[in-house]
Amino acid sequence: MSYDFETLNKKRAGNSAKWDVKANELPMTIADMDFKTAPEIIEALQTKIAMGLFGYEEVPKEYFKAVADWYETEHNVRPKEDWMIFATGVVPALSSAVRRLTSLGDNILVQAPVYNIFYNSIVNSGRHVVSNDLIYDVKTHQYSIDFADLEEKLSDPLTNMMILCNPHNPVGKIWNVAELTKIASLCQKYDVKLFSDEIHGDLTLNETGYNPIFGLDTKYLSNVVVAVSPSKTFNVAAMHAATVIVPNANLRGQVSRGLNSEELAEPNFVAIPGTIAAYTKGHQWLQALKTKLRDNRQLVLDFLEQNIPEIKWVQGEATYLLWFDVAEITDDATELAEFIRKDSGLIVTPGSVYGGDGRHFIRMNIASPTEMIQDGLNRLQKSVRDYQNK
Ligand SMILES: Cc1ncc(COP(=O)(O)O)c(C=O)c1O
Repeated sequence: MSYDFETLNKKRAGNSAKWDVKANELPMTIADMDFKTAPEIIEALQTKIAMGLFGYEEVPKEYFKAVADWYETEHNVRPKEDWMIFATGVVPALSSAVRRLTSLGDNILVQAPVYNIFYNSIVNSGRHVVSNDLIYDVKTHQYSIDFADLEEKLSDPLTNMMILCNPHNPVGKIWNVAELTKIASLCQKYDVKLFSDEIHGDLTLNETGYNPIFGLDTKYLSNVVVAVSPSKTFNVAAMHAATVIVPNANLRGQVSRGLNSEELAEPNFVAIPGTIAAYTKGHQWLQALKTKLRDNRQLVLDFLEQNIPEIKWVQGEATYLLWFDVAEITDDATELAEFIRKDSGLIVTPGSVYGGDGRHFIRMNIASPTEMIQDGLNRLQKSVRDYQNK
């Protein structure tokens, strides 16, 4: 079956947060795709709506089996079904785990630059952010982990949780098994809970995929909480469905109590049929999507090489969010992004919002039809030249 990734959909329909912009503006920002979701999911939701029965729902066994089967088929590792808890989103699950598993005033460690909402989950719950900043090599345009700094920060008795982004948004890095093992064993050594956000795990553009942390040897899993979701993979963020996977029974009890007492464990009427359809029937659509994303990435990289070589891609193999080094153009990515928006209407995310060294970077969402990517690139070229000549 062939799928359509080229139609420019009526984006302002559906109350889109991404498309709440002026008529001349082009948002390549929020992590939503401009593609319709898989027809298999649409069909399942249409069937559900046709039933007309939308009372309170339970999470059936079939849901957890679909999640486990998906990970076994797509990622060669099968999480146990009884490790799983349904949640209404990855961020709600994260914020709940922060509140349940740590205390007011604790330190929570992140690796900046990182998904900005992690900071909200920490700060809004009265905890402190501690960052083990990723190290950026300006010559190879690659990030790596400073393990000595990580160990020092995890060893602080006030640091009680680490939030890992696996794979990493915004830098697109897929952590390898050796890195994950080191992180997990350090968290264990210092009795730090490890929350691994794996929402981008299905969106890998390399051959080998990513490494779910629950695939590590079970001896590393006693303090691990993992969150996964079809939300990014299938462009169904507003379905509000995620699965929290906690191998350790005692920890799972605590996480479950947190989710239930904060009313984050009850599915809306599309969450279950939508997730089951995605995880049982979505394999082919995902393969087609990845081909489209690889093509888009190549289009963007070829264009930049020919027309704006000052912009350097930070080579990452995960997500449809590209992370660009703009240090040759500016040392203030916020100013540059504001200029671009005013100048040509293109909206990109300034790296500064992700902390760390983000002020030298911009993030661009390339999950759109070719015509829109081309439009975005033309606008980017014009605006960068106008910025340099101002
Ligand atoms: C790393 C990461 N985690 C979580 C989310 C959002 O998750 P949810 O919509 O399930 O709360 C995003 C969305 O962009 C993300 O990039």
